[in-house]
Amino acid sequence: MTHSSSTLSVPINSAVPRHIAIIMDGNGRWATRRFLPRFAGHAKGVEAVRNIVEACATRGVEYLTLFAFSSENWRRPEEEVSLLMRLFVTALEREVGKMHNNGIRLRVVGDLSRFDTKLQEMIANAERKTVNNTNLTLTICANYGGRWDVMQAVQKMLAEGGSDTGVAFTEDQLAKHLAMAYAPEPDLFIRTGGEQRISNFLLWQLAYSELYFTDTYWPDFNGAELDKAIVSYQQRERRFGRTSEQLEKQKKAS
Ligand code: IPE
Ligand code: IPE
Ligand code: MG
Repeated sequence: MTHSSSTLSVPINSAVPRHIAIIMDGNGRWATRRFLPRFAGHAKGVEAVRNIVEACATRGVEYLTLFAFSSENWRRPEEEVSLLMRLFVTALEREVGKMHNNGIRLRVVGDLSRFDTKLQEMIANAERKTVNNTNLTLTICANYGGRWDVMQAVQKMLAEGGSDTGVAFTEDQLAKHLAMAYAPEPDLFIRTGGEQRISNFLLWQLAYSELYFTDTYWPDFNGAELDKAIVSYQQRERRFGRTSEQLEKQKKAS
């Protein structure tokens, strides 16, 4: 594994977070406030995605992970679910070429088996096309759930076997099967839309992420809002269980 758990490594508070993970919430309320159908909020939300991807690339963020559709979002009215699927398809059709030109690598993670085959193929093609890009890795979490992720990783780990004692597996043996094993754990977690909860997003990987909540609805989230979150992040002291004094000593030594 190239990226072992950040809780084990020495924390380095780099100027810009390497990995930002966002729960893009508030599309529906953004629309309702304007007496528009929820659909209008989701459509506007796609524009915000475009802006934030560009803003992150400009700022040198290496990994951006966006929660687009949760395992629980199937519980929404059928009409809204199918609309979200259509938006996803159009966004892929329109944006993948541009992303590729901008050096962005696209990954889509989640239980994709529940999507129709056309969408699954589009995803596979987009991932294949952008696989060698190195500017920014954009991960879209679609039909994703943190519990699903841990469970599928456990199942793969057990199928692989190979624990030394027969029963005791290590964290790394599980982590390498998580859907986002290719990325370091998120440094900064952002949730827009005012709710302060994780909603079954990256449960394992958020263990030591800095959390940032804003009331701004996702369609209004822009580069300036992103900068506020980054400034807040830069003011945090990431201790990973250590004391402030230890960190001071370490800083002086380096
Ligand atoms: C987030 O916005 C987008 C998805 C979950 C797909 P919401 O649709 O949850 O917006 P609110 O929370 O109802 O305002
Ligand atoms: C979380 O938002 C999921 C996504 C943004 C895709 P929700 O709006 O579905 O979360 P809850 O239901 O309010 O927790
Ligand atoms: Mg919501």
